Amino acid sequence: MKILVTGGAGYIGSICTEEILNLGDSVVVFDNLTEGHRSAIDPRAKFVEGDLGDRDFIFKTLAEEKPDAVMHFAANALVGESMTNPSKYFRNNVAYGINLIDAMVDAGVKQFVFSSTCATYGVPERVPIDERNPQRPINPYGESKLMFEHVLKWYEKIHGLVHVNLRYFNAAGASERFGEDHRIETHLIPNVLKVALGQRERVDIFGDRYDTPDGTCIRDYIHVKDLAAAHLLAIGAKHSASYNLGTGEGFSVQQVVDAARKVTGHAIPAVVKEARAGDPARLISSSLKITAELGWKPKLQRIQPILESAWAWHSKNPNGYGD
Ligand code: UFG
Repeated sequence: MKILVTGGAGYIGSICTEEILNLGDSVVVFDNLTEGHRSAIDPRAKFVEGDLGDRDFIFKTLAEEKPDAVMHFAANALVGESMTNPSKYFRNNVAYGINLIDAMVDAGVKQFVFSSTCATYGVPERVPIDERNPQRPINPYGESKLMFEHVLKWYEKIHGLVHVNLRYFNAAGASERFGEDHRIETHLIPNVLKVALGQRERVDIFGDRYDTPDGTCIRDYIHVKDLAAAHLLAIGAKHSASYNLGTGEGFSVQQVVDAARKVTGHAIPAVVKEARAGDPARLISSSLKITAELGWKPKLQRIQPILESAWAWHSKNPNGYGD
């Protein structure tokens, strides 16, 4: 198979690319390198530098490459930023995504895997969160991903575009070669590890008065290689579907910091700060549907091995990709 991966120079896209290539399939990475890194592109992949905002160019690329399927990772994904710059989110995550699927229709490419998010649920009615929870996003990021899910539904009805929406919980960890390096880092695990690397003095814990056992927010951290495995299963889907992708286990911010102290051997000083706007107390996935329908199961369900893999990558690459 030949798969076109948008955002293949980014954190999750680079590791999915690596896993596809390990199976012997071929990959065309399409990335504009604003969020991604040139050295995160697996050298076995073909690289096309381009921007989904350039409609003619993505049409030309799809027509020339004629992939069997497209995986769409390219997006902006910071909840906080989306609250101050919604335009960027609706433009990049919705409008430019439409350029991509129009180009697919034009080139006759019918298989699509979409990086969606549990942020489409907003504050969940039930935890663990299954796919029947109402989708009521509480920020433009989650809204932009939900809007695109809706667009896809119509492209299936009208153009026969088979798509799988994978609603990620908190991606974490690394492969041996590729890892998490955001130019603006707001995520908990890389920020905790930066303290262990001596690059930050302490980690901020955003709020300790949530309705959780230790008062800090609980999240479902899924190893990025388990996430990649789900994409590989989704690519052969006969019918469109939406699946939550998490492990079904939740860990609090405090538990993550404690586990990171064990993994790194560093004291990792932490201070409690104001709660961050828009953070629900508990986000834990039910992954029953994807297990039942695609046979997916996470290999790593505990926070410690996830942190170990992240720490291995960050200590080998203390400056990330260095660009
Ligand atoms: N947190 C801290 N200190 C930090 C960073 C984060 O206490 O320095 C807390 C947050 O308040 C939150 C938890 O750690 O409670 C996890 O925060 P992240 O920023 O690592 O991740 P989020 O859950 O906010 O968001 C991530 C992705 C989104 C995605 C979401 C799905 O950034 O794109 O997971 O759950 F939608």
